[in-house]
Amino acid sequence: MQLAAETPVALDLDDILALADDDRQAVDRLIARSLESDVSLVSQVSEYIVMSGGKRLRPLVVLLAARALGYEGEQHVRAAAIIEFIHTATLLHDDVVDSSDRRRGKDSANTVFGNQASVLVGDFLYSRSFQMMVDIGDMRVMRILADATNTIAAGEVMQLMNVHNPDTSEEEYRQVIYRKTARLFEAGAQIAAVLAGHDGTVEAAMVEYGQNLGTAFQLVDDALDFNASPEELGKNLGDDLAEGKATLPLIHAMRKGSEKERALIRKSILEGGLQQLDVIQEIIASTGALSYTEERAHEAADIAINSLSDIPDSEFKQALISIAEFAVKRRS
Ligand code: IPE
Ligand code: IPE
Ligand code: MG
Ligand code: MG
Repeated sequence: MQLAAETPVALDLDDILALADDDRQAVDRLIARSLESDVSLVSQVSEYIVMSGGKRLRPLVVLLAARALGYEGEQHVRAAAIIEFIHTATLLHDDVVDSSDRRRGKDSANTVFGNQASVLVGDFLYSRSFQMMVDIGDMRVMRILADATNTIAAGEVMQLMNVHNPDTSEEEYRQVIYRKTARLFEAGAQIAAVLAGHDGTVEAAMVEYGQNLGTAFQLVDDALDFNASPEELGKNLGDDLAEGKATLPLIHAMRKGSEKERALIRKSILEGGLQQLDVIQEIIASTGALSYTEERAHEAADIAINSLSDIPDSEFKQALISIAEFAVKRRS
């Protein structure tokens, strides 16, 4: 299916997945092969999390971006698998740090295998991804991925420093979500450009696309933490509140709520726990804090889409646009 440039048709997720089907299968095969280890607990834990049905959105972005930019080689498959490994390693560590007991519709790895195994297998996945970077053999790609991995780690630490701080500003919150989430999307889109032989404006456009897509994605994640269906989401609701994380829905609800509502949210952030989840869900809805967060996600997705304006039209570019729309609409 070749879309006419002047009549872009919105693609749904199934269309997009079909478009990248061969590449996705190649990524899945490489991921499965790359989990091999002679240490049985490594294989057990890594297979448990890697094969547990994540959306694989980040590798999809790498694959589509590379194709949208005319790349015809095979290294984008490796790059996509690396990005998914880095993502998965962060999830193993993140669930320990956040004391989350559900992930991808199943008990989290830390629930099943314990914190120690989760942290150590997270390290295994990080280091395996470095080995795979060396296989790509491109210093620019290596630099981008090494920097992004380091930024994510710093972002998670930064978030830890903000925990239980009800005075966290919207700007400080944005810094955290850029580092912990958007940066990996950015790196994925950027290495697609580098592999396809682009630099300058095309590379900058892909950086902007990835960064804003990732920002939209995390903003929506933080809204979903208060209003998703846990079954659809595959994670427990209220994880952020339980940990005392001042995410944007709470920051905005404190701005707009009554004195009493503000005091209640402040106390919950200071103390953590889920005792007040029901009331806080109501305050977040009545103060417009969910809509506010979703509007910010919309804004970021629009910037992501606009950043592609000078990329030649193709069905792959259309898929990148639809992914930005999906990031805002998603319920899981
Ligand atoms: C979860 O990411 C972590 C966030 C950055 C919010 P995803 O929602 O992409 O997780 P999986 O890989 O599909 O499970
Ligand atoms: C996601 O953080 C970012 C990383 C895992 C680095 P969250 O804590 O918001 O993600 P979930 O909600 O656990 O998936
Ligand atoms: Mg978490
Ligand atoms: Mg979250």
